[in-house]
Amino acid sequence: MFLTLRKICTPSIMTVTEKRTTLLPQPKEEELIERKSDIIFTTPPVPKASGFQLFEKLGSPTKIVAPMVDGSELAWRILSRRYGAELCYSPMLHSRLFSENEKFRKTILSPLDGKPGLDRPLIIQFCGNDPDTLLSAAKHVVGRCDAVDINFGCPQGIAKRGHYGSFLMEDWDLVYKLIHKLHTELEIPVTAKIRVFEDWSKSLDYAKMCLSAGAQFLTVHGRTRDMKGQKTGIADWNLIRYIRDNLPEGTIFFTNGNILYQDDVPRCLKETKCNGVMSAEGNLTNPGIFWTQNENKDKLFPRVDKFVREYFEVVKQCGEGESKRCFKTHLFKSLQTFLTMHTDVRAEIATINRKSSWDELERIVKMIEKVVEDIFKKDNIEELDTIKVENLESWGGRYRDVPYWRLQPHFRRINGVDGRSVIRQIVKQKDSKRKADEPADEEDSQNKVRRSE
Ligand SMILES: Cc1cc2nc3c(=O)[nH]c(=O)nc-3n(C[C@H](O)[C@H](O)[C@H](O)COP(=O)(O)O)c2cc1C
Repeated sequence: MFLTLRKICTPSIMTVTEKRTTLLPQPKEEELIERKSDIIFTTPPVPKASGFQLFEKLGSPTKIVAPMVDGSELAWRILSRRYGAELCYSPMLHSRLFSENEKFRKTILSPLDGKPGLDRPLIIQFCGNDPDTLLSAAKHVVGRCDAVDINFGCPQGIAKRGHYGSFLMEDWDLVYKLIHKLHTELEIPVTAKIRVFEDWSKSLDYAKMCLSAGAQFLTVHGRTRDMKGQKTGIADWNLIRYIRDNLPEGTIFFTNGNILYQDDVPRCLKETKCNGVMSAEGNLTNPGIFWTQNENKDKLFPRVDKFVREYFEVVKQCGEGESKRCFKTHLFKSLQTFLTMHTDVRAEIATINRKSSWDELERIVKMIEKVVEDIFKKDNIEELDTIKVENLESWGGRYRDVPYWRLQPHFRRINGVDGRSVIRQIVKQKDSKRKADEPADEEDSQNKVRRSE
């Protein structure tokens, strides 16, 4: 068997396949269907859409709402689609809890989750470290989503304790088994979301291994496991592009990280050559992040009052449950800047909880509407209510100044320093490092030319 694999592998693939011959479960010979460059694909016994077919079936989505615990639940997904999102991921669900506990299943997913016509396309994400448990959990969502994703990216302490997410990055054998189990035994496709290693070629091998295990889409978050919290920093699109360039053509590949503004979406598609762009924090602070259709200011940077009203109506439509529970969290995230100016509203939002009545929530919405209504009574409001677009930055995009009564782009505050200044500082450092490296590069490339002459 191993000989067969070796025979059909080119030398360049030996890094991945050799590892697999010793570490990973091998596909049965009759399962081997295709070899694209250096990845061996296996066919599942159950016929189901492969990566490209699935992508097309979902409408070739380019704008994707990331999986987010307390972030990408039903109401937020419905709302995000109204602002241009084309594919949404559910929050991560814990496979053991989900497979064992019916009450948990009913609490976390309502009958409306994944309903065709309302909540599709949808990929439901799980975390886990036991292939059988993962399969048993995933079987419960067949018919309620288009594919199941596995979270290999979570860097939080809880994932370390539970041994899942990015803490499986050292256990390729298990990662392979988890993906392969769903690929071969679940009726719907499986996809994977991963982080990168500092080592580029290791990241590439890891991506290849996930694909060869049966992942039909691969989402690459261009940050390492250590890049979290205060150390989040900037995702590395060059590394993402390197991975992309070295995967077989036709691989469905999503890029995750660094989306600040709407025009970062086409820029990311172009620079990383991905099929789709995934956003988490950018989408949380402004679902308008995916509005690339036109320059409608109310879609690009929605007015706080109109946005909250629209969102609240969607939450009501979703009824009691997760969407209502997350209402407060979303208000804090999406209204962050506005609430620093109107601390009285912030204090009122702080009083609500999962048991609050619809009337109590309505009172908050009305309070926000009144505040913005008063702002719009100003004589010079037309002049004030403009979005200023700044000069082109070295990173390829432009900052915007958005009035605080509109949803804002996301800048993570680091050690009490405004996130925008932090980003400027990081970009400046990268620019000067690049400049410092340039002469050496030139000399090096000249040497190469000389050598080839
Ligand atoms: C509130 C929040 C919850 C998240 N929950 C998940 C999750 O459930 N599953 C997952 O794979 N990643 C999760 N992430 C990570 C994001 O999906 C994404 O990979 C990360 O935030 C980087 O994307 P960004 O730069 O667009 O924010 C979460 C991120 C945030 C901010």
